[in-house]
Amino acid sequence: MRVFFARDILKMHDNEQQAWWVRKRNTLLDIADKNLNAYVYDLETIEKAALDMLALKSVSRVLYAMKANFNPEVLRTLANTGIDFDCVSPGEVLHLRAALADDATGRILFTPNFAPREEYEWGIREGLRVTLDNLFPLKAWPELFAGTRLFVRIDPNQGGGHHEHVVTVGKRSKFGVSLQELDELVALVDAADATIIGIHAHSGSGILEPANWQAVAGALLAAAERFPEVEVLDLGGGIGVPDKRGDPIFDLSLLDQYLAEFKASHPAYELWLEPGRYLVAVAGVLLAHVTQLKGKGDMQYVGVSTGINALIRPALYGAYHEIVNLTRINQDASERVTVVGPICETGDKFGTDRQFPASKENDVVAIATAGAYGRVMSSSYNLREIPPEVTI
Ligand SMILES: Cc1ncc(COP(=O)(O)O)c(C=O)c1O
Repeated sequence: MRVFFARDILKMHDNEQQAWWVRKRNTLLDIADKNLNAYVYDLETIEKAALDMLALKSVSRVLYAMKANFNPEVLRTLANTGIDFDCVSPGEVLHLRAALADDATGRILFTPNFAPREEYEWGIREGLRVTLDNLFPLKAWPELFAGTRLFVRIDPNQGGGHHEHVVTVGKRSKFGVSLQELDELVALVDAADATIIGIHAHSGSGILEPANWQAVAGALLAAAERFPEVEVLDLGGGIGVPDKRGDPIFDLSLLDQYLAEFKASHPAYELWLEPGRYLVAVAGVLLAHVTQLKGKGDMQYVGVSTGINALIRPALYGAYHEIVNLTRINQDASERVTVVGPICETGDKFGTDRQFPASKENDVVAIATAGAYGRVMSSSYNLREIPPEVTI
């Protein structure tokens, strides 16, 4: 096993692409002086990720899946770059409107799933682009959709993800109309007097192969060709980010190349993407302080001041988050430790068997790549604080 020393972190990030939390370490330490725990988001990093994605020539629109992080500053930063939004509930739409001080109707794709009838009524009344995720609404409430122009989410049966909980295709996933139901979909849309203008898919999260979205586009053609008014293929999100040092960075230019190939043979369709994590994950760290140290057999535990109530991804998905002792970033990572929080659950672990410098009470610890599905999934379990958010 390769052992990393803390100074290697600095060197590697210097050599490759220095992590923003190394460059802005002093700012983070100042924030940690004032807060026991905090989510910190680097807006410059978010802006860069957005501009990289907006530069894709084959993609006409990028919609941010705001479920990943709905901090108002984050939303405004993305909106200012020209990113649009995917909202999955009326709550998200209203929150976005308040954050942008704009009704933003033309910038929103509204994609509820298994939602009550009232939400579709509301979305249509608000003039939003509504996505159907199931045949049920058309069968049960056809009158709602008369005269509407809709998107429909198809299960492309093509995709994957970093954990079974985030695979969104196949019969074990609740999402999307299956390709076998196309005849019924066409009949129901006709009977409801609706028009399908967009075909939507989301094939999973944390996918690192750019060819995935070309394959998704190909799978959606079967559906698009059944509806002559279709203008858009929304290929969803799921674009992966590197979790560990040394992991490959997602090759956006290769994605563009694959999608350009698709567009060359199907120029009638606009292609949209709907990333969540890609735009915000790397830009966030969760700061905490070392609380206690403990040895148990050959295990060494470093306790920190917040737990899986603040960041559930390691417990929920076995997700890997890099953990750094920011106070001692220049010291050798000579110990092998498991980093745990104060929550009464054995699964309250941020990382197991990590190389770490000898740490002391009150050291500042940063848990990296925490900008997506972090604070938004947090809870006050054990009646512990949900960390405040700070943007820099
Ligand atoms: C419909 C839809 N679009 C986009 C996303 C964003 O996924 P990711 O954050 O992996 O890019 C999700 C995630 O759940 C989703 O369900």
